[in-house]
Amino acid sequence: MVRIAELSGEPGSLALGSSRGVGRLIAALLAGVGLFLILGMSDVRAAGPSVALDSFPKQKLTDRAALQNGAKLYMNYCLGCHGISQVRYSRLADLGLTQDQIKSNLILTDAKPGDLIKTTMPLKESASWFGKAPPDLSLTARSRSSGAGSGADWIYTYLRGYYLDPSRPTGWNNIVYPAVGMPHVLWDLQGERTAEFKKVASHGEEKLVFDRYVQKSPGRMTSAEYDNAVADLTAFLSWAAEPVAQTRKQVGVWVLLFLGIFFVFAWRLNAAYWRDIR
Ligand code: HEC
Repeated sequence: MVRIAELSGEPGSLALGSSRGVGRLIAALLAGVGLFLILGMSDVRAAGPSVALDSFPKQKLTDRAALQNGAKLYMNYCLGCHGISQVRYSRLADLGLTQDQIKSNLILTDAKPGDLIKTTMPLKESASWFGKAPPDLSLTARSRSSGAGSGADWIYTYLRGYYLDPSRPTGWNNIVYPAVGMPHVLWDLQGERTAEFKKVASHGEEKLVFDRYVQKSPGRMTSAEYDNAVADLTAFLSWAAEPVAQTRKQVGVWVLLFLGIFFVFAWRLNAAYWRDIR
């Protein structure tokens, strides 16, 4: 026969009302938070590119004018080859646009607002034109994140990393993505540049590393304007990869605040319950 005392366990071992119980609970919580931080900091992500990435200006992520401009650039310069087929046109309302604005300014094909943002590029043919079919960019801002930087940093540096290279079929090469199949589609904005490489000795071998760009012909934008436009475009692609990211962060702060306040009440209430029992 099991005695009641065995079922209820050793007094104080589970009862959170006792000071030992609360101490253990807090210790367990702290251990959990510590483990979380250690796991979060350890770099389990894939290796990145061999060049250093520039930091994408993150304030663009909450700047509606920038996001709208990014969407416009995307529809004009990228959708011909790349879809973002996890997003519907109507969802662009999140960027502060009305359905009419979406219809008249951003839908450049015969798509309807409820349609997914798909490219009209035929997959098979494009693979033979470019060596590789243009991938869907819905998740690129996430998939390109690495130890070297976020996916947004990668895209931001990549779109500013083109240089003339006559040895490539498209005439273009890229410092972030060497031998890339995509031509420099924004070249009329940025102008034409070449890249200079320098020899560096590493581990007894000579290696060529990127040194600097040389502007060969001007684009329609200054260098600062071009960086800004690419930042807008990158912000738009980051939004597309996680449309609810901003909401998620805002809700998260409130949830943590709520849990913090709730913890104090639960703790005091628990102590009050146990006061008369002990
Ligand atoms: C003429 C067709 C074409 C256009 C227009 C085009 N791309 Fe590409 N893009 C490609 C191809 C092809 C690849 C695959 C290249 C490879 O992997 O070698 C690619 C690859 C990419 C990648 C790398 C994806 C990855 O993770 O490997 C990004 C990012 C990208 N494009 C962004 C853009 C953006 C932004 C625009 C608009 C400014 C754009 N592209 C316009 C053809 C195009």
